[in-house]
Order: sequence, then structure tokens, then C-alpha cells
Amino acid sequence: MLVRATLERDIQWLPDVERSAAQAFAGWPALAWLAQGDVMDCAQHRAFIDAGGSWVAEDSAGRIVGFACARFEGRVLHLHEISVRHEAQGQGVGRRLLQRVVDEARLGGASELTLTTFVDVPWNAPFYLRYGFEMIEKGLLSERLRGILASEHAHGLIGRCAMRYRVGS
Ligand SMILES: CC(C)(COP(=O)(O)OP(=O)(O)OC[C@H]1O[C@@H](n2cnc3c(N)ncnc32)[C@H](O)[C@@H]1OP(=O)(O)O)[C@@H](O)C(=O)NCCC(=O)NCCS
Repeated sequence: MLVRATLERDIQWLPDVERSAAQAFAGWPALAWLAQGDVMDCAQHRAFIDAGGSWVAEDSAGRIVGFACARFEGRVLHLHEISVRHEAQGQGVGRRLLQRVVDEARLGGASELTLTTFVDVPWNAPFYLRYGFEMIEKGLLSERLRGILASEHAHGLIGRCAMRYRVGS
């Protein structure tokens, strides 16, 4: 399994990877609707590639099984999305993708890597906590993260939190 920068030719597979990944929520009643939710379109993927913030996991057969995309906001790298095909989940692909994003954050001189995620979903906040992320208390949220959480809430995403990984430490 190879984790590498996303190429233009990979874009065609990424919406399907994200749709497949979202099947993880189908067995989680409160969030089952996410299994049929919207996914990033090709233009959004292209913008992340152009900014140098998109990586894919490619299996030994050359199939794209996961992707992560992130964007610099000043000295903070923000993880916008990480998705692994449903049938490839639980085999370490997500952890490898996340490690690549952390490595890129460090290479790019980021002070921290941030993300927003579900507090109670086992493969969301608990996974990031084990990895070394910390939850950011509501009172300490930056304007940017407060805005992301408010927008997610308005779109029906309840039970979210913001997390940070201190890249320098
Ligand atoms: C989150 C996601 C990218 C992780 O990818 P993955 O390849 O399954 O991850 P890994 O196999 O590397 O496992 C990562 C951790 O999640 C845990 N995990 C994965 N699937 C799990 C499940 N169904 N239930 C409980 N824990 C799970 C693993 O135990 C592992 O923890 P550890 O490394 O501390 O032991 C993947 O589950 C996914 O695409 N989910 C749907 C989309 C999503 O939730 N994206 C994250 C948005 S913030």
C-alpha cells in the first residue's frame, strides 16, 4: 500500500471512495443518513491538488482505496476530509494517511493540524485522541473553527468537536 500525492488522473475515483467510506455510518442509527450524504466534487478535489494538499492510498493492484485532503490556514494545516473505502477500513490505511498529513504539516512548517469530527463515533474523535490529538474546549476555539462547527451544525451535523495535533511538539 502506497500513500502518495494525488494526481489529476486519481480524481475520477475519489467521489466513489468517499461514498463507500460513508457506509461506515449506515449502522449508526443517528447518523445513518450520512451514508447517502453529499460528497466532494471533482472541482473541490482539483483545488486541493493544486494547493498541494491531497494524498491518496493506492493498494498493490493500483486501486485508490483512500484519500485525505487538507488546507493551510496561516500556520495551521486543517484536515478537510479523510476517507477510506468501506471494505478497506480497519486495516491501517486511515492511520497511514493521517501520518502523511502530519508529516506534510511538519514539512510545511505548520504549528498544528486541526480538524472537526464526531465526538462519539469510534473511528472519529476516539481514534484521533489515541493518535495524539486533543479536543479544543469551546471557549478556546478560534474564529475559524467556531465558524466551521457552526456551519456543520446548520447542516445537521450534531455532536461535533474540534481537535488539534501539535506538530512541533
Ligand atoms: C476514519 C477512517 C478514515 C479511518 O480509516 P481506517 O482505514 O478504517 O483506519 P485504520 O484502520 O487506520 O484505523 C484507525 C483507527 O480507527 C479504529 N477503527 C476503524 N474502524 C473502526 C470501527 N468500525 N469501529 C471502531 N474503531 C474503528 C481502529 O481501531 C484504529 O484505531 P487505532 O489505530 O488506535 O487502533 C475511515 O473509518 C473512514 O473513512 N470512515 C468514514 C469517513 C469518516 O468518518 N472520516 C473521518 C472524518 S473526521
